[in-house]
Formats: sequence, structure tokens, C-alpha cells
Amino acid sequence: MKTACIEGNVIVRPMTARIGAEIEGVDLTCSLELKTVKEIRDALLRYQVIFFRDQPLSHEDHLRFGRSFGSLAIHSGVSGLPDYPEVVAIHADADSKFVAGENWHSDLSCNNEPPLGSILMMNTVPDYGGDTCFSSMYAAYEALSEPMRHFLDGLTAIHDGEHVYRPIVGNNGKTFPCSEHPIVRTHPETGRKCLFVNQSYTTRIPQLSKHESDAVLSMLYRHCMAADFQVRFRWRPNSVAFWDNRCTQHQAIWDYYPAVRSGFRVTISGDKPF
Ligand SMILES: [Fe+2]
Repeated sequence: MKTACIEGNVIVRPMTARIGAEIEGVDLTCSLELKTVKEIRDALLRYQVIFFRDQPLSHEDHLRFGRSFGSLAIHSGVSGLPDYPEVVAIHADADSKFVAGENWHSDLSCNNEPPLGSILMMNTVPDYGGDTCFSSMYAAYEALSEPMRHFLDGLTAIHDGEHVYRPIVGNNGKTFPCSEHPIVRTHPETGRKCLFVNQSYTTRIPQLSKHESDAVLSMLYRHCMAADFQVRFRWRPNSVAFWDNRCTQHQAIWDYYPAVRSGFRVTISGDKPF
């Protein structure tokens, strides 16, 4: 960690009217003042996903920045680094058969207490391609008709990690979380309502018959992908994305094979959706 840091004013540059902002004037390789952490947290709550450029974070920097926003979670699906169990490597190259996060999802919604957010830093990115799209689940909820909002308000959905992680880790005896959450959750900090189902983890609406559940979920997945709820981020080396996992979904686009894309992620613990 650096001993002397110059902390400027945090500058927030919105990227769309609904979601996403770039943050300037802050050096994340430094220990941040509480005032700066609050400004970043406020920007996260308002814009749901925030981005930083030119932040060559060491694992210690990454952990310290993450811990400014809460305790860090150990990933329930894949292993962290041997010396840094809270840090998960994200890597794709010419040998990759699939990449993490190719389908729209919120991280680990299968957990009983899904993460508050995730902070991803990419150190190696392709010359072009490899963008990540983020979608606002506030915008998705607010765009539904009043009868549909009313219908969904009392329903829950099952979120299962088994079919997501089993193909990655194989039959090693590990079990993965499976949880039931409200389809419409209330953000614990902003009090706003948002949709909380995603095509990676969500399997079933238990109050409906199977064919009703399939039809409603597939309508919602399509709805959540509307371009006007989204922001699309183009990475550069040492870019950082910090998303509020409670009110967004994201999709990592694998359009750069066989190029290398590599970085690290930490995950901030969250609470039980209500
Ligand atoms: Fe993800």
C-alpha cells in the first residue's frame, strides 16, 4: 500500500439516465477517507454500477477497497486464490470451453444471503470485445404494467446453484446452495422495489404450475434484457467495475475468442432478500 496519497474530489459521470456512472478523482490503491467511501457508496446506490479507470490494484488493495463496503464473502461455487480465499480469478483464453457469467445473472442469487455487490478488476483485456452489460432491475420492475407488478408482488422463486456450478467443478461431493427469494425485492438501503429473478440461477416459481412458471419466468427474462435498462462497459487494462448485486443483472460477452481476458473479483456479503 502507498504511504502518501492525494485524494481529489470524487467526480461522478453518469453513462445513461437509468444505470451506470464512471467515477474519477479517486485512487483505489490508497486507503480511502470515510468521506470518499461515502461518496462512492452514494454513487453505487444511485447508479447501481460504477466504473473506475487506471486502478492497478494489488490483491491487498482489492481486499481493502472491498472491505470498505462490508465483510467479504467466500464464493460458494468456485475456489478463491490459495493465499487470498476471498479473491476469485476470472480468466478466459484459447483453451477455454466456456466463460463465467455468459448468461444474464445476478451473482450467487442461489445463496440464502446473496452478495451485496461484487468488485471486478481486469488486468488483461482483448484489444476489442469482452464488454460487460449491466441491466437495472429497478427499471425492469418499474416498466412492468400495474396488474403484472401486482401479480408478481406476492410470489417467490427458487434459485439453485447446482446446475450452474456442477458442470464446472464436477462430481466432487460438494453441494451448492438453493434458496427461495421474493420475485420483487425491496432494496435494503434505497427502499426501492426491483425484480429479482435471473435465467442463470432461477428455476421455478413454486406457487405456479410448471408450465405457468416457465412462461412467466421466460417473459421476465426477456423483459429484463431490454436495451433501455442497460449500460455496456468497455474494459481497459486496470479498469474496475463495482456493481450493486441486489438491483442489477449482468452478462459477460465472450466475443473475443481466442484472446485472453483476465482479472480478479471480490464479493461483498449481503443479506436475505425481502
Ligand atoms: Fe457475475
